[in-house]
Amino acid sequence: MDSNEINKLLGGFLGTCFLVFSIGLVSDGLFASPAPEKPGFAIEAQEPTEGGPAAPAAEAKPIADLLATANAEAGAAIFKKCQACHSGEKGGPNKVGPDLWDIVDRPVAEHEGFAYSAGMKDFSKGGQEHWTYDNLNHFITSPKKFVKGTAMGFAGLPKDEDRANVIAYLRTLSDNPKPLPQPGASAEAKPAEGAKPAEGAAPAKPAEGAAPAKPAEGSAPAKPAAPAQ
Ligand code: HEC
Repeated sequence: MDSNEINKLLGGFLGTCFLVFSIGLVSDGLFASPAPEKPGFAIEAQEPTEGGPAAPAAEAKPIADLLATANAEAGAAIFKKCQACHSGEKGGPNKVGPDLWDIVDRPVAEHEGFAYSAGMKDFSKGGQEHWTYDNLNHFITSPKKFVKGTAMGFAGLPKDEDRANVIAYLRTLSDNPKPLPQPGASAEAKPAEGAKPAEGAAPAKPAEGAAPAKPAEGSAPAKPAAPAQ
């Protein structure tokens, strides 16, 4: 009887163990959670972004073109990252960062009640600078690269698509969403200063060459010709 009971107890115990482990195995299989491709909530990545943005900045696609195909709904999902520090409601509170209601074309560093960093105040040029689509695009690509000394501890969104989507969403946070920029009329062409020196240099050469040569030749024959007549 005794050993029978012990056997029953042991059997029951082993059976339970077997069940528990099987359930564990099966549920692991059912609810497998593969590691995400990239972490969804990278807030502060330090140096890696420092080296990178130089290249993207150079070949960056104009934001007007990117916005033409952007999706504000997808941007709302990306804005969740920003919401760690920013509210987006009208009259919303300043959090770690200022409220972003109506941010498109808003003057830089002018939101009431927020203490901006010296770097951001410099960038604002005393309120003259605005958050144009272009400025937003560059800032969100890599905040610390674009606004030296900014207090925004966010690594940036290196993917064109993510930025375009989130900017398209930011645009909707307004009573009167600003018109989208015209694709094709590239705002990026102006900052690309490489073109200007080239244009300036070209006219300089003909001018130099022409000045000494022609007047000299032209005037020399003119004088002897006059007395001869
Ligand atoms: C870790 C917190 C944090 C996150 C995340 C963050 N920000 Fe910021 N943001 C700040 C802070 C702080 C400032 C003020 C910067 C300063 O004063 O230099 C700021 C400033 C800004 C400004 C300038 C506002 C103004 O009034 O001039 C914009 C635009 C902005 N953030 C957009 C974004 C967007 C878009 C995202 C998401 C893609 C984002 N931020 C994510 C903290 C954050």
